[in-house]
Amino acid sequence: MTEATVTELAKPKAPTLPDAQKITYVKHWTDRLFSFRVTRPASLRFRSGEFVMIGLMGDNGRPLLRAYSIASPSWDEELEFYSIKVQDGPLTSRLQHLEVGDELIIRPKPVGTLVHDALLPGKRIWFFATGTGFAPFASLLRDPQTYEDYDEVIITHTCREVGELTYGAELIDSIRKDEMLVELIGAENLAKLRYYPTTTREESPKMGRITDLMRSGEVFKDLGIDPINQDNDRAMVCGNLAFNLEIKEILEEFGLREGANSDPKEYVVEKAFVD
Ligand SMILES: Cc1cc2nc3c(=O)[nH]c(=O)nc-3n(C[C@H](O)[C@H](O)[C@H](O)COP(=O)(O)OP(=O)(O)OC[C@H]3O[C@@H](n4cnc5c(N)ncnc54)[C@H](O)[C@@H]3O)c2cc1C
Ligand SMILES: NC(=O)c1ccc[n+]([C@@H]2O[C@H](COP(=O)([O-])OP(=O)(O)OC[C@H]3O[C@@H](n4cnc5c(N)ncnc54)[C@H](OP(=O)(O)O)[C@@H]3O)[C@@H](O)[C@H]2O)c1
Repeated sequence: MTEATVTELAKPKAPTLPDAQKITYVKHWTDRLFSFRVTRPASLRFRSGEFVMIGLMGDNGRPLLRAYSIASPSWDEELEFYSIKVQDGPLTSRLQHLEVGDELIIRPKPVGTLVHDALLPGKRIWFFATGTGFAPFASLLRDPQTYEDYDEVIITHTCREVGELTYGAELIDSIRKDEMLVELIGAENLAKLRYYPTTTREESPKMGRITDLMRSGEVFKDLGIDPINQDNDRAMVCGNLAFNLEIKEILEEFGLREGANSDPKEYVVEKAFVD
């Protein structure tokens, strides 16, 4: 055995979690919201819009895991997540203190319904988000397929306060300015992207729940487009349970039917969190 090998064997091994990855970047957006990036497991393949189980080791020595939408697109070499901070939440009360270099457990088994495969071909795609429900769309908005498949891409994001829109607003801005993305997606394709942010509890240029703005027709007027119809429009929805139920009802009234991976139709829904 050479001296170099002996030294290598004697080196204490850093304790690693099962399926551990390293945090590479953390940004706090508000006192309730933050995003972070993490190294990507070599084995992880996913479709933009899917979610995985992530977490930390619990005090009982067992992993404490929660579902998280992957906010980065499938071509990205790292993974990005956009997270709530629940002060007494078992996971996020700890997750919010993550720093660069820390370890995070990622179970490399992506699943979910907010994928292009679950929709029939259409002309215009709507992404309807509230709160952290923006996360899967942060992935899909950076995926070239979104622009290849549709003539128009509309993302609506409703939050209580203006500060809660910032992650989404900066992402949209960066998509439009990022040279690599412009090259990947094409400037002419990115021109298809329309962003419609609204707030409900703090003054902003557009106030109101997106559901009310759809019922009144205001959103279509603001965007200068025809209302939703079954031939042209496809939709993906991600928000709290009450929001999802309400928007489902509205989309069904417009003639859209709920699809799934195994049965593509005109819209799909996923919970942003369990109430
Ligand atoms: C399919 C799916 C995808 C998800 N993707 C994300 C994601 O991308 N980002 C994310 O932050 N969370 C996401 N969640 C929620 C996530 O799984 C956890 O619930 C969240 O991280 C809080 O974990 P916790 O252990 O701290 O508290 P928990 O015990 O899990 O939750 C405590 C309470 O906090 C509230 N809450 C939980 N999550 C949220 C949230 N995201 N926004 C507002 N209130 C919330 C609810 O009232 C919940 O009952 C997702 C959930 C599902 C089912
Ligand atoms: N955001 C905060 O500042 C804050 C602070 C402390 C605690 N919390 C708690 O955290 C949890 C999640 O809060 P959150 O703000 O992240 O998410 P949320 O309650 O799901 O609200 C996000 C956005 O969705 C809108 N919305 C809710 N239900 C809707 C429906 N049925 N149809 C259309 N729009 C709907 C809300 O409008 P409305 O405002 O009209 O409901 C709000 O603009 C809640 O239990 C809340 O009490 C939030």
